[in-house]
Amino acid sequence: MSSILFSIAVLLVAAASCLSVSQAQSSDSIFLENFNLNGDPNHFSTSPNGQIWSLALTNESGCGFQTNQRYLFGWFTMKLKLVGGNSAGVVTAYYMCSDLGAGAMRDELDYEFLGNVTGQPYIIQTNVYKNGTGGREMRHFLWFDPTLDFHSYSVLWNNHQIVFFVDEVPIRVYKNANYTNNFFPNTKPMYLFSSIWNADSWATRGGLVHTNWSYAPFVSSYTGFSVSACQWVDPSPACLSNTTSYWWDQYNAWQLSAKQLLDYAWVQRNLVNYDYCQDTKRYPMLPEECSIDSYS
Ligand SMILES: *[C@@H]1O[C@H](CO)[C@@H](O)[C@H](O)[C@H]1NC(C)=O
Ligand SMILES: *[C@@H]1O[C@H](CO)[C@@H](O)[C@H](O)[C@H]1NC(C)=O
Ligand SMILES: *[C@@H]1O[C@H](CO)[C@@H](O)[C@H](O)[C@H]1NC(C)=O
Ligand SMILES: *[C@@H]1O[C@H](CO)[C@@H](O)[C@H](O)[C@H]1NC(C)=O
Ligand SMILES: *[C@@H]1O[C@H](CO)[C@@H](O)[C@H](O)[C@H]1NC(C)=O
Ligand SMILES: *[C@@H]1O[C@H](CO)[C@@H](O)[C@H](O)[C@H]1NC(C)=O
Repeated sequence: MSSILFSIAVLLVAAASCLSVSQAQSSDSIFLENFNLNGDPNHFSTSPNGQIWSLALTNESGCGFQTNQRYLFGWFTMKLKLVGGNSAGVVTAYYMCSDLGAGAMRDELDYEFLGNVTGQPYIIQTNVYKNGTGGREMRHFLWFDPTLDFHSYSVLWNNHQIVFFVDEVPIRVYKNANYTNNFFPNTKPMYLFSSIWNADSWATRGGLVHTNWSYAPFVSSYTGFSVSACQWVDPSPACLSNTTSYWWDQYNAWQLSAKQLLDYAWVQRNLVNYDYCQDTKRYPMLPEECSIDSYS
């Protein structure tokens, strides 16, 4: 078995209380054991104790990071605190993707946080890509202000379902029912990424509200990254097996628990802002997976 049951909690060693250049560097090097930085290093910073990481967007550039490792199936979680105040036009993306770029055949699982003007609610958008095709957007309002505190955003991914969680509440369930279009990513290992970027052509009120750079830098913060997943080692057929050796592949992870079903139903009733499966203007014939019962 070449696959490794991989569990890391990047709960970093508490550094001494006074900040010095060398400590800041060592925090960065702990970060870099698990992640690669994309973009301008001046837009990345860590808290003095190394436990909180921040990405900044200015009119000059954004910034992002990605895991060094790829995973196929598992549980992925991180706590984010989003850009506060007037963040219209700014998108914080937090996603898993099989490719380092926007590859034509990539698989992807996305969270995107769409900023808003002060006092107006953030929207969280999720999406699923298979072999370069997406278009599976859902948008939800949250039941809290995601700019005030850290909240956890997690993905459970196995061959039966992909569940997007916010603070342990399942907000979206994407089932694999092996429909003929086979639109379920289950063959390509993925990296985990985050980035912050300007998307004012579409993000806020459909692009009506533009980024106001007088509020820059826009900063999103991260902590508590943890993964319990099958780490991919080429060619790693073990990650593909469905031997149910791992908790995230076992029966209890194939559907929601009774408590999770209640939470999920509450979210569906109260917080859905957009669902591609209801958008018959865009899809006169809805994609086949739309007929799967997500409560089953
Ligand atoms: C970004 O803003 C700074 C300060 O306001 C300004 O000097 C600079 O020219 C701007 N850069 C771009 C690319 O707009
Ligand atoms: C994936 O997409 C490419 C084109 O982008 C296509 O040639 C290929 O057949 C697709 N593969 C599958 C398995 O659908
Ligand atoms: C879909 O196929 C996978 C792999 O063969 C299997 O484990 C799973 O039970 C199937 N799902 C359904 C809903 O039939
Ligand atoms: C921003 O706030 C407006 C007004 O409340 C709302 O209609 C919109 O959905 C919010 N979010 C985005 C991303 O535009
Ligand atoms: C940007 O924000 C500043 C400060 O609140 C405000 O004076 C300015 O009018 C805003 N610009 C636009 C284009 O709304
Ligand atoms: C899961 O198991 C079934 C039956 O043993 C097998 O046909 C299928 O290929 C397996 N799926 C994967 C993804 O390995």
